[in-house]
Amino acid sequence: MFSFLKKPQRNKVIFASEARTLLVARDKTLLEAMLTEGLAMPHDCKVGSCGTCKFKLLDGKIRELSPSALALERDELLAGYRLACQAIPRSDLTIALDAPLTVQQTVDDYRATIVSVPRLCPDIINLTVELDRPLSFVPGQYADIGAPGVDGLRSYSFAFAPIAGSTRNLQFHVRHVPGGAFTDWLFADDRVGASLTLRAPYGAFHLKQSAAPILCIAGGSGLAPIISILQEALALGATRPVTLLYGARTRTNLYCLDEIGRLKATWRGPFDFIPVLSDEAADSPWQGARGPVTQQIAELPIEMRYEAYLCGPPAMVDLAEAELLEAGLAPDAISADRFVDRSDVR
Ligand SMILES: Cc1cc2nc3c(=O)[nH]c(=O)nc-3n(C[C@H](O)[C@H](O)[C@H](O)COP(=O)(O)OP(=O)(O)OC[C@H]3O[C@@H](n4cnc5c(N)ncnc54)[C@H](O)[C@@H]3O)c2cc1C
Ligand code: FES
Repeated sequence: MFSFLKKPQRNKVIFASEARTLLVARDKTLLEAMLTEGLAMPHDCKVGSCGTCKFKLLDGKIRELSPSALALERDELLAGYRLACQAIPRSDLTIALDAPLTVQQTVDDYRATIVSVPRLCPDIINLTVELDRPLSFVPGQYADIGAPGVDGLRSYSFAFAPIAGSTRNLQFHVRHVPGGAFTDWLFADDRVGASLTLRAPYGAFHLKQSAAPILCIAGGSGLAPIISILQEALALGATRPVTLLYGARTRTNLYCLDEIGRLKATWRGPFDFIPVLSDEAADSPWQGARGPVTQQIAELPIEMRYEAYLCGPPAMVDLAEAELLEAGLAPDAISADRFVDRSDVR
């Protein structure tokens, strides 16, 4: 009988300077609600670490899962900036964004069954799942995956470009992070037949339409979205020159060499593949490049005006981005996807 006293189940968010509002359920973050509605809010980590998802709070109250101060500078906080991935609206809000809002695909929930989990190298498996219904995505995007008994969702990039517009069969390259809840669960036993939850598609990493030479720099399982965008480009008949720098620790950690060989053999233009090993024993027969993969940037003919695609551990991506900018690449010629995990939370 006192239902008129109940707090509303959803709060309204008004975007200043945009003719748009959004309803956010009381248990959802602003970022979750925006992405679910297909609003392309920039984000990298979703754990309050990178600061990419900042917005300006003009009016209203939020609860923060972790303090915005962990990722934002003092002057940004004083100007009213907060993190959308950590902000749960506690009242109706008015907010402002630094860039105009664009709309992409809406996100949906799927049930996924694990079909196979072959090992690609000692610490990476090819997680293949079948969905309860077809999903459309753009190569380069990612899904959030949940497993029974594991708290929360983890993000994984699609590792295979669908031939048709949508597919029920998905592949992900999952690297084992020792001590990590989801990957410890996945690697501990034969999980074929297990049910997962999958929420997708997310992310704005994609191959841009242009004629510029493509420079891909991947580290570890960061190869997944790179393979997928190159597969898509090949299927579309791309002729742009490709340079693929791939960083792994040792020869045994190099994976997908057959698929890279197939891409190189069928690509309709020049295709350079440069594997780089950071921890290969000095006395091994390895004849290729050694050291951090980013060291190879200095060897590239940067005057080629590349369009760069970087993916992998945040430290590698940050360094590659800094070196490419230093070498004269324009910021908008660089797309980056950082595989942030909870150990990156400051
Ligand atoms: C957009 C995106 C795409 C990604 N795509 C891929 C992909 O294609 N392939 C891939 O392998 N990975 C990818 N990742 C990384 C992936 O989402 C997971 O972070 C990773 O697999 C670890 O998950 P986990 O559950 O095993 O580890 P978690 O349980 O999340 O823990 C990760 C690490 O942090 C430590 N840790 C946990 N909690 C804390 C804490 N509170 N403080 C400090 N340390 C803590 C753990 O001990 C462990 O070492 C992607 C990440 C993002 C953001
Ligand atoms: S996406 Fe919110 S801080 Fe990284």
